[in-house]
This record gives sequence, structure tokens and C-alpha cells, in this order.
Amino acid sequence: MPELSARLHVRDICGVVEKAIAESGRGYDAIAVTQGPGLVGSLLVGLSFAKALAWAQSVPLVPVHHLAGHIESLVLENGEMPTPAVVLVVSGGHTSLYRIEEPGRYELLGRTRDDAAGEAFDKVAKLLRLGYPGGPAIDLVARQGNDRAVAFPKTRLTHADRNAPHLPGRRDFSFSGLKTAVLRHVTVRRAELGLAADDPLPPPEVADTAASFQRVVVETLLDQLFDAVRWFGAQSVGIAGGVSANSRLRETAATRAAARGIPLYLPSLALSTDNAAMIAAAGLRQYRRGLTGGVELNADAALPLNDNRPS
Ligand code: KG4
Ligand code: ZN
Repeated sequence: MPELSARLHVRDICGVVEKAIAESGRGYDAIAVTQGPGLVGSLLVGLSFAKALAWAQSVPLVPVHHLAGHIESLVLENGEMPTPAVVLVVSGGHTSLYRIEEPGRYELLGRTRDDAAGEAFDKVAKLLRLGYPGGPAIDLVARQGNDRAVAFPKTRLTHADRNAPHLPGRRDFSFSGLKTAVLRHVTVRRAELGLAADDPLPPPEVADTAASFQRVVVETLLDQLFDAVRWFGAQSVGIAGGVSANSRLRETAATRAAARGIPLYLPSLALSTDNAAMIAAAGLRQYRRGLTGGVELNADAALPLNDNRPS
């Protein structure tokens, strides 16, 4: 899959960029490019392309962190967030909580120790035979289900991560236990109903399982997010990344933010999943701070945004 995606990047990048520039009807003064994190093959294609284009056009090249892009999707349509702010980035590859004291500077408060929330949606959707990407499919069927039908566990970590002792750990997430609980539930129900290993559960049970799973994910994410909001006296709160498109997450977050009387920042649906506008916006912020790169720039599959690592 990583190899296939890199090859598709090579195949499509020229056409996509040409089309985007033609449709915008505008020129450009700088080129922002995702330096990491992500699949290194795809990152390299984008980075090499951007370097060549910047060099050929004599315009500056601005390296951007993928998650800084997601965070910028909150600001792009809504204006700067009042600080201090607390932002949760929930995507297929990340579940990370940040404190923002000043626009453009991010302090990592917690992250997932295993699966990202989006990954859990994708894996559970696969178990329920709902297809890929799983998030939108679960979001849809969950509306027909009872979110209290199945009692899945909520994981709350309160101890430091032995593998990352430099991180506080208290605000970390874990979704692998929940995923395993869903797997166990589906396996047991299949056996009880006399279904074969590959058969889907009956639709009402799929809806109940999806709704119950989604409720636990949403509550786990928001408990941690709003705990950080309280603790840090945040003046605004934001949720970005593909999972921020989830309707249940958006509704529940809106209710909790209103109860606390603080503004909630969410990207529009078009900007919640991966897109180039957010990378351009984050690039603009970097550019204004004078942070540009040269031909020596390299892709970094595990680029930290700011993980509190002693430098
Ligand atoms: O940010 P994104 O587009 O890509 C990454 O950087 O990973 O996020 C993709 C993830 C996928 O796991 C997808 O299932 C999830 O976002 N997602 C959703 C919804 N729409 C997309 N998860 C829950 N509910 C949704 N409506
Ligand atoms: Zn993303």
C-alpha cells in the first residue's frame, strides 16, 4: 500500500497541481509542502516536486508539519483562536492533544499510545463489514442504533508511558482495548446467532454496535479534551483532523463548549479531512515567521510537531 500510494502520487501530482492553479486563476508567491509525518514514499514525491517547482520559479519553499496543517484548518475560516487554546487533532494516523499559548506554537499534552481514533473507526468498520474509510460509514449507521446497547470499556490512562518518559502521559489515549472489545463482541454474537466467520451481523445489531462504539470514542476524546480546557483555563477549544467530521463528536463538543461558555472551533467538512488548503495556510504562517527551507530539505516520516523532547 505505501508503495502503491507513492506511485499514484508520482502519476497524479503534476496534473493535480496544474489543475488547482488553473482553477484558482491566481499565481503564487511561495510553495508550502508537507515535510512529515506520514508515508515516506508519498512525502518524498511531494517534497521533491515542491523543491523542483520552487527552484524553477525562484519562489520560497516552506516546509509544513501535517498536524500544523490540520490545526490551521480551524483558523482558516474562523480567524485566530483566543489563547490559551486547547486543540485535539484526530485523524487516521494521530490522536494528539495540544495547548496553544500563542498562535503557531504547539505544546503536546497527550497522544495515543496505540491506535489513532480514525484507525479505530476504520478497523471497527471493517469488522462490521461497512467498508473503507470507516469513519463516515459508522457515523451514518450509528444514527439508526442505540448507543447504550453494548457496554464497551472506556480507557483512561493515568500513568506515564514507559516508552516515552519525557511525556507527561496523564492525558494520553488508547483505543486498542476498545477495538478488541468490539472484536470480541462481534465474534460472540456471530457464534450465538450461528453465523459464519465472514457473515455480517444483522443490520440492527450493526447499528447498535457502531453507535455504542462511537459513543465511547466520542466521550473518551471529549472527556480528555475538556479536562485539559478546565485545567489550563482555555479561552477556546478546537477539534481538527478527519475524525472531526464525525457528527456525534461535533454535536457533543458543541454542547460541552456551550455549557462552559467557550468558543468551539471546528473545520468545515471540506477542510476536516486531508486537504491542501490547510497546508497552504500553515505554510503562510511559517513564511511570515521567516521559516523557509532549501534544497537540502528532507522528508521525515516521524517529524515531531513539538513533543516536549529535551532538545
Ligand atoms: O485527517 P485525515 O483525512 O487523514 C489522516 O491524516 O489520517 O483522517 C482520515 C480519518 C479516517 O480514519 C476516517 O475514517 C476518519 O478520518 N473520518 C471519520 C469521519 N470522516 C472521516 N471518522 C469518524 N466520523 C467521520 N464522519
Ligand atoms: Zn491528516
